[in-house]
Amino acid sequence: MHHPLTILGIESSCDETAAAVIHDGKIISNVVMSQLIHQKYGGVVPELASRAHETNIIPVVTAALEEAAIQKDALDGIGFTQGPGLLGPLLVGSCFAKSLAFALGIPLIGVHHIQAHVLANFIDDPKPNFPFLCLTVSGGHTQIILVQDYFSMEVLGETQDDAVGEAFDKIAHLMGFGYPGGALIDRYAQGGNPGAFAFPTTHMPAFDFSFSGIKTAFSLFIRSKTPEYMQTHRADICASIQSVLVGMLLDKLVKVAQKTGITTIALAGGVAANSHLQQRFNQLAQQHRWTIFIPAMAYCTDNAAMVAITAYYKYQLNAFADFTTKSFPRYPLR
Ligand code: KG4
Ligand code: ZN
Repeated sequence: MHHPLTILGIESSCDETAAAVIHDGKIISNVVMSQLIHQKYGGVVPELASRAHETNIIPVVTAALEEAAIQKDALDGIGFTQGPGLLGPLLVGSCFAKSLAFALGIPLIGVHHIQAHVLANFIDDPKPNFPFLCLTVSGGHTQIILVQDYFSMEVLGETQDDAVGEAFDKIAHLMGFGYPGGALIDRYAQGGNPGAFAFPTTHMPAFDFSFSGIKTAFSLFIRSKTPEYMQTHRADICASIQSVLVGMLLDKLVKVAQKTGITTIALAGGVAANSHLQQRFNQLAQQHRWTIFIPAMAYCTDNAAMVAITAYYKYQLNAFADFTTKSFPRYPLR
């Protein structure tokens, strides 16, 4: 008899405490609590993140179970983010997941955070066919991934220094925006002229990226301008810097697509929420006849629905974790 699986996913790799429930392949609850405490520091403070996860995890999991209208004992398994991420925050999620799975006597499933970002493309319909390329862009990662199967992923190119989300956030910080500033650059760029200012791009060999140079170039640019100038030209500056960052990503993506001949292409990660990236990605899809996938906004930024669906696929492969399993701050895809 078909027993539809019900799995709880828990995400705690950075500054979002999140829990979600998947039932029979459908996400039936998705709760995210963002930690606002880091805003005044302009970046995530690891120890404060760990403490906030400890405070938030029980309310967040409780809310996810309530939203799903299920009891704990209806769960078949618990997935948690095993890495990469901040060690303290990862340990809070793993300890909680282990304790609950142990108490309920159900399997524990370790989830790779980047795999989960990629597999977020399978939450809604239509779902991509294998193989496909995934541009995975977040605060910690910038990779072009060849996805052969759910758990067979190969990094074809990646950043050699800062992640693109980090570049967005550092530039936003230089402009005096709050943290994380990526979404604010996106918002303030609305109506701005993306061709108003030229910023130098960094060309890397093969399919790799580099974003530290543009951050430095931007800090020099800002030093040559008065605060009044920055204020009155805010839309044009945001549109221009955003256009350069997005252009660097998409130029490489086009190269990889041409080289591999793959025409199914997805986005993933927090920066995939960027409206300018999505707009130009759509244009490229028409131009090159790509079949494209972009997860819903709530599944782009850190969330537990992506962890739940990854755990759901892993459960079906009997890929369970041992209760002695560790967390991995650095965790290569393979
Ligand atoms: O995937 P994510 O939530 O966390 C990590 O795993 O890093 O990504 C967060 C990143 C941050 O750098 C944030 O500024 C960026 O995604 N971000 C955006 C936008 N929304 C979130 N960057 C540009 N435009 C946006 N609309
Ligand atoms: Zn992430």
